[in-house]
Amino acid sequence: MTVAFDHTRRAGTESGQCTARILQMRLEAEGVVSIDLAPVDHALVPWTPGAHIDLVLPSGTVRQYSLCNGPQDGVYRVAVLRQDQGRGGSREVHDGLRIGQVLTISPPRNAFELVPSARYVFVAGGIGITPILPMIAAAERAGADWRLVYGGRRHASMAFTAELAGYGGEQVDLRTDDGVGPIDVARLVQQSDGAKVFACGPLGLLDALEAAFGAAGRSDDLHLERFSAAAKPLPGDGTFRVNLARSGGHVDVPPGQSILEALRAAGVDTPCSCEQGFCGTCETRVLAGEPDHRDDLLTEEERARGDVMMPCVSRSKTPELTLDL
Ligand code: FES
Repeated sequence: MTVAFDHTRRAGTESGQCTARILQMRLEAEGVVSIDLAPVDHALVPWTPGAHIDLVLPSGTVRQYSLCNGPQDGVYRVAVLRQDQGRGGSREVHDGLRIGQVLTISPPRNAFELVPSARYVFVAGGIGITPILPMIAAAERAGADWRLVYGGRRHASMAFTAELAGYGGEQVDLRTDDGVGPIDVARLVQQSDGAKVFACGPLGLLDALEAAFGAAGRSDDLHLERFSAAAKPLPGDGTFRVNLARSGGHVDVPPGQSILEALRAAGVDTPCSCEQGFCGTCETRVLAGEPDHRDDLLTEEERARGDVMMPCVSRSKTPELTLDL
């Protein structure tokens, strides 16, 4: 998997939270609502296609959503699929948010940066279309050759199809389970020769793309954004100690418990969101010890440096770790 990492993620983490007012909510497809947020206490932070923001919902739940409009629009737009079987964030968005409400948000961060290319193939599954929309607009503005393969269960459940129709039929390949059939990954590998491929969607689709591009020796052409983390082995290692540099205390982390859970149990409040190692909200500086990185976000170089870690999933290779907490 190739996921671009850029400085905006770290800048956002450090610059803290701000507030934005809901200007508009619109039904974009069955179960998909878009929300326009206007900054209240700050100027709109410039962002690049692929960026996301955190929304702090009234219950305190934090969720990341990709920005799906243009950086020049004057608002942050996100779109949220209602997932009745999910952890509750999307239900709260759909049932609890109203126009005029002010929410705490994070500045945009980008872990899915569009890299320059003369040719792109974009792949979206369902609500995975959201980060792809500004990428398409950027590719179009740059005069790049691009094509979108967008899959969904059926047309009525696929958001932003009217907007995509504005680009003309040839570049946009809509695949529905009840129509022309699902996305053909093997064909996509063949047809994307010489292109950079950016994909966002359900894990099954992304895993299949990763396997197919890997088998073709083209992993470097593939850029993915996952909604949830790749499966990882359960932590089965021994207990280690986490020293808290700022407060001077420590917590012991037993097998089966994450550092974040141990901190929480000890009353140490640490920002977090996905708790699966893919959003970057919990990123923490490591002052001593060697982390055992299990996130999906840090690059190989950053892992080797070992000066930051995601305590929601990562563990320790040394008996003790000292964190900037
Ligand atoms: Fe998302 Fe840790 S909470 S990476």
